[in-house]
Amino acid sequence: MKSGPWHRFIRFTPSDMILDGTKVRQKRLDLLREEIDRSGLCPRLATIIVGRDPASELYVRMKHAACEQVHIGSVGITLPASANSADVIREIDVLNCDPDISGILVQLPLPREVDIVQVIESVAPEKDVDGFHPLNLGRLLAGHPFFSPCTPLGIMNLLDEYRIDVARMHAVIVGRSLEVGRPLGALLLSRDATVTTCHSKTGNLAALTSQADLLVVAVGKPRFVGPAMVKEGAVVIDVGTNRVGGVLCGDVDFEQVLDRASAITPVPGGVGPMTIATLMENTFLAARRLSCPGAW
Ligand code: GUN
Repeated sequence: MKSGPWHRFIRFTPSDMILDGTKVRQKRLDLLREEIDRSGLCPRLATIIVGRDPASELYVRMKHAACEQVHIGSVGITLPASANSADVIREIDVLNCDPDISGILVQLPLPREVDIVQVIESVAPEKDVDGFHPLNLGRLLAGHPFFSPCTPLGIMNLLDEYRIDVARMHAVIVGRSLEVGRPLGALLLSRDATVTTCHSKTGNLAALTSQADLLVVAVGKPRFVGPAMVKEGAVVIDVGTNRVGGVLCGDVDFEQVLDRASAITPVPGGVGPMTIATLMENTFLAARRLSCPGAW
């Protein structure tokens, strides 16, 4: 691994170069559980899943398991694949009005027949622990976030845990999704990074990625980024979770890029665990805010 710009400030042991999301998640969940227990609050997360997509079912099970770990209650609502927008919004309306529910998460993707925009906009912004409601995305863009989406915020938390300061870095994000690329750009900008966002229509992608001090890849293509696309000493964040022949791998060719990067997230065990930890933190934040409205 090569030395990156942040080595000026902090000394790391080599094992710190692989950004261990599993270890950091555990640390943050342990702290969160203590905080929840001390608070006397009973945060509760509601999840809605439409249809029987096995990957979505697995993610939702993992979210409920994390809830249990930190003493957040959870309820899971499963709607048939035949559900339409009105069916989903009806469930959301009930949860919006339920004082025992702190956070609402609609697992994506939704079946094509369900209008994702209508569904996201029907979640009460103060229970929008996914941070996808346009009001929350707007607040984030305006520089005063209320809820930030869990994957980008989880990435920021992971960088913070490793004392990687993004200020003055050139951050190149590959992928412009609602869940990751766009909100992450706003979070990095708010920390004084210079941000370039690339996407499927970007010409000469490698010329841009190889300028990155911080390279974030969220394209959903197995091992899409190889060493020729990475600057020596870059911090590399891999958001991909791809299954190839039954084996999980990221959007970055981890083995090949390891030697060029100064720090890199593995898949699995990098960004994924941070997303779930951040969802738990957002849910507790929602519960705290709902317990004293007007204070926020
Ligand atoms: N599907 C993939 N990532 C996410 C996420 O962060 N939130 C929700 N609700 N669905 C997802």
